[in-house]
Amino acid sequence: MSAGALGAGVAAGLPRVAAAQASAEAAASVSKRADVALRVNGQTTQLSLDTRTTLLDALREHMLLTGSKKGCDHGQCGACTVLVDGRRVNSCLTLALSAAGSEITTVEGLAKGDDLSAVQQAFVDHDGFQCGYCTPGQICSATALIEEAKAGQLSQVSWRSGNTQQPKITGNEIRERMSGNICRCGAYPNIVAAVRTALGQGASS
Ligand code: FES
Ligand code: FES
Repeated sequence: MSAGALGAGVAAGLPRVAAAQASAEAAASVSKRADVALRVNGQTTQLSLDTRTTLLDALREHMLLTGSKKGCDHGQCGACTVLVDGRRVNSCLTLALSAAGSEITTVEGLAKGDDLSAVQQAFVDHDGFQCGYCTPGQICSATALIEEAKAGQLSQVSWRSGNTQQPKITGNEIRERMSGNICRCGAYPNIVAAVRTALGQGASS
């Protein structure tokens, strides 16, 4: 590439750099902070946060609870799943301030001391992970799934299969209900076996 062409390319890129800088400055100028009390795993912590902070960043960066993982940061992988008042949410899509007043449970809050929860133990027993990056989200999701099943909540599979009266949580139900949690290692068969066991069904059928 000639020096002239290079110079033209650099010149063409300058407006974009300037626009990005202007946009970052504009964003910084509207930044607002707020005090918030977050109750996580039974303990309340006072934080002063930029109002745009996600629950995931509040947990990981401000409370140093790094069990919840940032995979996509776009609500697509489920690695950041935590429980808010018992319901599973993608913490990367949840504003920290919106979780004030709720009981938040992360993977760190599931065990009782050295005693793993039934879901955690089942993941260990069935090798429900390889690299482990998706595992905290999978475990939080499975924990909520079991409560949803007890409450008789339906899934797409329940409707499609006519399994609508206190639906039996079949393998297809588990796969559907865990479909928001992606495992790049492909540990899915063992994850399904772990969830089955945690549901008290035995690993296979
Ligand atoms: S990090 Fe939240 S869904 Fe991927
Ligand atoms: S165990 Fe590696 S991404 Fe799921």
